[in-house]
Amino acid sequence: MSLSKTLLAAGLACTAFLTQAAPIAIVGAMDAEIENLLPHINDKKTVVIGQHIYYQGQIGDHEVVVTRSGVGKVNAAVTTTVLIREFKADKLIFTGIAGAAAAKLEPTDVVVSTALVQHDVDLTVFGNAPGLMDGFTDRLFYADKELQAIAMQAATQVVGANKAHAGIIATGDQFIADKQQVARISKEFDAMAVEMEGGAVAQVAFMYKIPLVVIRTISDKADGSAHMDYPKLKQVTADNSVAITLAMLEKL
Ligand code: ADE
Repeated sequence: MSLSKTLLAAGLACTAFLTQAAPIAIVGAMDAEIENLLPHINDKKTVVIGQHIYYQGQIGDHEVVVTRSGVGKVNAAVTTTVLIREFKADKLIFTGIAGAAAAKLEPTDVVVSTALVQHDVDLTVFGNAPGLMDGFTDRLFYADKELQAIAMQAATQVVGANKAHAGIIATGDQFIADKQQVARISKEFDAMAVEMEGGAVAQVAFMYKIPLVVIRTISDKADGSAHMDYPKLKQVTADNSVAITLAMLEKL
């Protein structure tokens, strides 16, 4: 190839790179929470960074990058930062399962986040409200209103209006399986659901000003029965969240 043709080809490749839309990042904590999403990705490319695998490609008209964060707040914060800094994601959807914190919720109901809070942050000895992290003025990290509205429409489409709820989701590095503990979290934070990643994703999203919504299907009641319901319902409820995420992408 002549030098001018090589330069032209390089220029076109560069333009294509520069004009490529920023991807929507879709994250689940466990395999069950993303595996049904992976076959929907066209032109799938796999990138490994640290201990995480990122799947890039398109779903429908959207550029996406999908990953399994692993369980817990550190895993969630690491992957969220990589998605924003390395992949330039401009929207974040976290999808998966959760325990019910509100008594009215049953397994297979869906909670779309209005806000996230970290129920295990405790600086109360210094006068902070429970859940309020040092350096912040609010313990709640709010979901993006537009993503929240679209997620609610998608959830309503998939599970019906009576099973789709919008509310606060509380996060901590603990699987909650105790009636008193879940009651405390529900009361203190007005939480509808408990899980182990969303609050960390939300703090990072807030710090980088990236819009986020968390979609959680209830897999257990976070009480003494949690360890029985959870394995039984883990896959079906995770599939629910994936279906809602796909329905959401069609509306974005
Ligand atoms: N994810 C699903 N169920 C949960 C529970 N009970 N506590 C924390 N995370 C969960």
